Amino acid sequence: MLSKKDMDLFNERATAAEREIFGLKQQLESLQRSITTNIPSNITKEEFEKLQQENAKLIHRITILKRTVEMQRDKLDNKMELFGTADTISIKDNLSAVFHKAISAAYPDILDPPVIVTTSTNPKFGDYQCNSAMPLAQQLSSSGTKINPRDVAKEIMSKLKVSSVIKKYEIAGAGFINIYLKREFGQSVLCNWLWAGEVLPPYVKKKRVIVDFSSPNIAKEMHVGHLRSTIIGDSISRLLEYLGHDVLRLNHVGDWGTQFGMLIAHLQDKFPNYLTITPPIEDLQTFYKESKTRFDEDEEFKKRAYKCVIKLQAFELNITKAWKMICDVSRQELEKVYTRLDIKLIERGESFYQKYMESIVLELESKNMLEEDNGRKIMWGEKHGNGVPLTIVKSDGGFTYDTSDMAAIKHRVEKERADWLIYVTDAGQSLHFQTIRSCAKRAGILKSFHRMDHVSFGAVLGEDKKKFKTRSGDTVKLSELLDEGLKRALQKLREKERDKVLSQEELKAAQESVAYGCIKYADLLHNRNHEYVFSFDKMLEDKGNTAVYLLYALTRIRSIARTANITKDELRQRSHEVPISLEHEKEWKLAKVLLKFPDVILGVTEDLYLNPLCEFCYEVSCAFTEFYDKCYCVEKNQSGEIIKINMGRLLLVEATALILEKCFNLLGLKPVAQM
Ligand code: ARG
Repeated sequence: MLSKKDMDLFNERATAAEREIFGLKQQLESLQRSITTNIPSNITKEEFEKLQQENAKLIHRITILKRTVEMQRDKLDNKMELFGTADTISIKDNLSAVFHKAISAAYPDILDPPVIVTTSTNPKFGDYQCNSAMPLAQQLSSSGTKINPRDVAKEIMSKLKVSSVIKKYEIAGAGFINIYLKREFGQSVLCNWLWAGEVLPPYVKKKRVIVDFSSPNIAKEMHVGHLRSTIIGDSISRLLEYLGHDVLRLNHVGDWGTQFGMLIAHLQDKFPNYLTITPPIEDLQTFYKESKTRFDEDEEFKKRAYKCVIKLQAFELNITKAWKMICDVSRQELEKVYTRLDIKLIERGESFYQKYMESIVLELESKNMLEEDNGRKIMWGEKHGNGVPLTIVKSDGGFTYDTSDMAAIKHRVEKERADWLIYVTDAGQSLHFQTIRSCAKRAGILKSFHRMDHVSFGAVLGEDKKKFKTRSGDTVKLSELLDEGLKRALQKLREKERDKVLSQEELKAAQESVAYGCIKYADLLHNRNHEYVFSFDKMLEDKGNTAVYLLYALTRIRSIARTANITKDELRQRSHEVPISLEHEKEWKLAKVLLKFPDVILGVTEDLYLNPLCEFCYEVSCAFTEFYDKCYCVEKNQSGEIIKINMGRLLLVEATALILEKCFNLLGLKPVAQM
């Protein structure tokens, strides 16, 4: 294994090399663009010669740049090789690097060759495949070298170097290259996980990430749309934290704006002595409804409410106190939900940005980016006239949701030094975030190296396929939904007669694990942009890809070592003495599924869809079932005494448990020892 210092050094170099390759490629492209290919007919002889000379120079420069790119690639590959067996590597990245090298050696004139590596769907065609020969043959043929893909594949094969990951390659069909992994490679990766006691993450370049999620509006009840944001945002944060990023989880609550005027005015009337005695507001939603009715019906009240907003924005003491009281009631409610779901978040609502809103308006004004529009001040994004503008200042001088997001993005990029911004809200806000991005770029706040993602999601539907509502048509209260989940989970456990074997405490732990786990998992399992039907019946099924099935699977897997009386510590110790058993076809099949884990999570970080991670969990447990059907781990005689323990297999069982545990942890599920 490499020392931490060596690793850091290599990672640093690799990052530098990556950056350099990127820069070089850009230079190359622009050079190629400047090479003159179409010569105008009315050109003079001197001009023509000058162009020819310039072209020659450019071509020379391209050759040098190409060589530099190759050298930098070598440095990167070097890192790959060194990490080859010691680290949790992405097999796809590793294979891509290996094939890139071979293809470049075979066809040095092709600048950016297509490197296509996929997992094979049929074991007949290897574990992975490289499908580059076909597009390469096409590229070569169209530039004048007629060649068939099979010959291209042969050419690539001849350049492949020995690798610590790959056992063999073979050409198949039209020019596919089938790739077979080495068992020793699998053993060493799994062994590292066992030794570490957990699945180690693959290396990624560390970033400062802000995940803006949950973000309900104060006084309006947190509803199931916010539940989706909470579950998805938490899981994304968990994943990024696991990869070693510096993650700031922000709850951008709606705690500012005009609705507070009416809430405060209503508070003043209903609890005139609110400054000395804390008002006993129990139900903020009713309180909100009452004040809204008055606001809509009573002109006097409306005027007073507006005045309160102005006073609030001027931070007037007594008004601020009233505002804080209302926020506190709401916060206490929210906290309960977060505690139950084990969600950690830092509250930094819209109010936090009040003074930054004032300064962003000045900044945009001084940059001449605001336009007058019927008394409003608006801002267009980069492509003027494309889409809709932001409203930065309303005609009454007040700020809007747009203003707060412009202030927030500046604060996050410049004060919090974030490289990556993630916003998790319903798909209805896509246009809002597109415009924020575009305006932030235009204002020079977002630079080209910043990454900004709007992680959008579809609506939650009731079993009647209509918007999720209570029978009486109200929005479903989150705390009541969680209560219902607990009730249904207990029913399920009783049905399975678990209450007869588990202690009171164990039963409670199982109940919570199942209830909250099934709600989270059902949400994450669906492609987030699709609508999904909220159904306790479906999510509590114990067959198919559900939290209940998977949580059971893990307890069963964990119980195997327990029946053999082998502790986790012992397994860890033995992992360095006994090789993990990967000889049997089903053992090796299971291991190859486990080895996909780094690719699965790296894939998730690319597009921030979590459903592939859920599908992976299910694939793991299916592969495990197949393995366990065919391979004895602990053999017993007829009277139930243990006669043989297959340690190599128990190690594979433990590696499977570690993977599932890690996935559950990333998805926010809490496995229990007994269920
Ligand atoms: N409070 C908003 C809502 O309930 C979501 C806020 C999302 N975050 C943001 N920075 N705009 O729709």
